[in-house]
Amino acid sequence: MSRTEQARAILAANDRGGYTVPTDRLYPFQWNWDSAFVAMGWATFDADRAWRELERLLEGQWDDGLVPQIVFHAPSDDYFPGPDVWGIQRMPPTSGIPQPPVLASAVRFLLERQGEAGAERARAVYPKLVLNHRWWEEARDPQRSGLVATLHPWETGMDNSPAWDIALERVPAETRTEIRRRDTGHVDAAFRPRGIEYQRFIHLVDLFREAGWDAQRMFAQSPFKVADVGTNAILLRAERDLLALAERFGSAAECAAIAARIAHKTVVLSGLWDEALRHYLSRDLIGGTLIPVRTSAGFLPLFAGLHEHAGALAARLNGWASRGLALVPSTDPDAPSFEPQRYWRGPVWAVVNWMIATGLAEAGDPQTAALVRSETRRLIGQAGFSEYFNPVDGAGIGGGAFSWTAAIDLLLGEDQGA
Ligand code: DGY
Repeated sequence: MSRTEQARAILAANDRGGYTVPTDRLYPFQWNWDSAFVAMGWATFDADRAWRELERLLEGQWDDGLVPQIVFHAPSDDYFPGPDVWGIQRMPPTSGIPQPPVLASAVRFLLERQGEAGAERARAVYPKLVLNHRWWEEARDPQRSGLVATLHPWETGMDNSPAWDIALERVPAETRTEIRRRDTGHVDAAFRPRGIEYQRFIHLVDLFREAGWDAQRMFAQSPFKVADVGTNAILLRAERDLLALAERFGSAAECAAIAARIAHKTVVLSGLWDEALRHYLSRDLIGGTLIPVRTSAGFLPLFAGLHEHAGALAARLNGWASRGLALVPSTDPDAPSFEPQRYWRGPVWAVVNWMIATGLAEAGDPQTAALVRSETRRLIGQAGFSEYFNPVDGAGIGGGAFSWTAAIDLLLGEDQGA
C-alpha cells in the first residue's frame, strides 16, 4: 500500500458511520477538534464523507450553541469518563465542555476545496457556527475582555500541559465519582497524564455536573480558569474563517459583529506576547499573571494571523531543529517540566504542527513552514501514524493508527506532491 492508501485506510477503519473515532478503543467516540481535522483529511478524497463528519459532530450541539468535546454516538466501556459521569440528558449524549474551535475553519476549508458543489452543505451548517461563536462569547467571555476562558484542561485539548500545573493545583483532588481509568489499559501509563491530574479533572466534572452544566454557574464557580493562548488563537482564526462564510451566507449585521470581534481579539491576543520569554503565553485568570511556560500553543497566534513575532518564533523552532530535536515539542525542551514521552508535556503532535506551518507560511516564512511540514512527514514516515511522537528519539507513542495523524499526513502529502 502506498502511504496515501495507508492513511486513507486508517480513516476508513476508524469510520463508525459518518463519524471517525480518533483511534480504536482508547477513544471510542467522536471528538470535537479531532473531527475538524479529520474532515479536512477526508476532503482530500471524499467530499461527501468530509461534510458528514462535521454534520455528525453538530448532532451533539446544544441549544445554547456549545459544540461539546465528545459526542457519545454509541455506547462503549473502553473510555472513562463515559456519559453516566457527565450526566447530561440529551440524545445523542455528550460531554459538557468545549474543545478548541477548529470547526468553522474546517467548514471553510471544505467549501473552498469543493467549490460550488459544497455551497448547500456549507449554507446549512453556517447558522450553527454563528450560534457556536456566540456561545464562546457569552459563556466564556461574559465581560467581553476579548479572551475566552477555559474552565477544564480537557477543553484545551492539551490536557496535562505544564502550563496548567499551577492553576490546576487550586482544584481539589477529591472526587464524588469513582475514577476507573481505561486509558492506561490501552497505552503505557508513562505516556499518559498522572493520577493526581485525573483526580482534579474529575473533580471539575463533578462540580460542573452539580452546577447543572449551567454556563454562568460554571464560569462563576470553577477553581480553574485560564485564557489558553491555543484556544484563543484557534478561535480568532475560526472567526476570520466564519467572516468569510458570513460574507457569503450571512447578514450584514452578522458580518459586522464578527468583524468587530476579530478587531478586538487581535489586539487582546497580541497582549499575550511575553517579551522576557519571547513567546506567546496563556494567562491564569485567577492568579492574574501570564503563565511562564513556553508550549507549542504559544506558536499558534501565527495561525490566527498575528505575524509580528514570526521571526522570533521561527528562530526558536530552527534552534531546536539544529539541536536534533524533532519539531514541534509541545513543551519547551529546556523547561524543567519537559517530559518527552508524556502526552502534552513534550511530545510532538501532527495537528499542532500543521497549524504552526500554516501560520508560518502565511507570515511569509516558507522555509520554516517547510521545515515543520517535512519534520512531520519524517516522523510519521519513520514511526507510523501514531497519536504523538517523542521529540528526542522520534518514537511513535500513545495510540496507533490515529485518525488525525492520518488526516494531516494526507494534507501534507498533497502539499509535497506525494
Ligand atoms: C482524554 O480522555 O485523554 C482526552 O484527551 C479528553 O478529551
